Amino acid sequence: MNTKVTAHLPWASWIRDLVHAGGTGGIHWHVHALRSLNRWLTTRECIAQFLAGIELKQSHLLLIGPSAGWMLPTPWLARFKQIDVYDIDPLVPLLFGLRHGKVLRDHAIALRFHRQDAVAGLPKILREHPQACVWFDNVLGQVKVRLGDEEIAQRQLAHLKRLLQGRAWGSLHDVYSGSVDTAMALPAMQTHAFRRLDEADEDTAQVEINGQQQLLSTAAQNLLTQINAQGVWLDHATATVFAPHTQTTLMPWAFKPNYWHWLEAGWVKP
Ligand SMILES: C[S@@+](CC[C@H](N)C(=O)[O-])C[C@H]1O[C@@H](n2cnc3c(N)ncnc32)[C@H](O)[C@@H]1O
Repeated sequence: MNTKVTAHLPWASWIRDLVHAGGTGGIHWHVHALRSLNRWLTTRECIAQFLAGIELKQSHLLLIGPSAGWMLPTPWLARFKQIDVYDIDPLVPLLFGLRHGKVLRDHAIALRFHRQDAVAGLPKILREHPQACVWFDNVLGQVKVRLGDEEIAQRQLAHLKRLLQGRAWGSLHDVYSGSVDTAMALPAMQTHAFRRLDEADEDTAQVEINGQQQLLSTAAQNLLTQINAQGVWLDHATATVFAPHTQTTLMPWAFKPNYWHWLEAGWVKP
């Protein structure tokens, strides 16, 4: 395994990204992830199943925002010959290496780390690696949190698919998150086949969920009811990451015992 680290950001941001990465990662994330691995097991299995089902022709992966890869299955990573990891968190080379490094070394996979904002820097990264496929590893749902501006986040996220035209790429990202009623029986960890049918606004948008066409607002309400949601839920502004008609999988994630997410995973072929 070749390990190379490049840094692009000054010290103040280095410390901020080490601690919390603009609310999206850092030490807080690592401690929480390490303590939650058992509770996340079913969701991690759903992610592994989703990734195993992707037909891959590329041997080079651009892996964006994976942190230590707490939720990533090592066997999927081992399918590549070269992996370039992009994350703003300075702890990533160490912790990703500890979690996945041995297997990747045993398979002689070249692993390179880059500490940089890979969402803003995506056009340059894509130009540098024209043959690679791309996986956004639960990072796009945090763009709104990190920027603190829903409109800018939505515009940035909607534009990504245009930058990625002609590529094999995929993303796992938050769709909704919020509190759940822990007094109720633990909900079933059921996944759903999902497709948006247009890019209309939330009140009129049509989606297909498990083959049934309905309003997005109805589908969203059913998803929240399924996991005993309560209070106001956060919309992560990821509705337009995938083009309409892209087939995706929705999976519940018990992020904390009393705070759950709905995640969406999808893969786009060139
Ligand atoms: C929720 S964590 C990802 C968790 C990961 N899927 C796992 O299995 O542990 C989000 C990660 O994205 C990184 N990140 C956030 N914004 C980023 C950006 N613009 N460019 C690169 N990395 C980013 C954070 O540092 C953090 O490690």
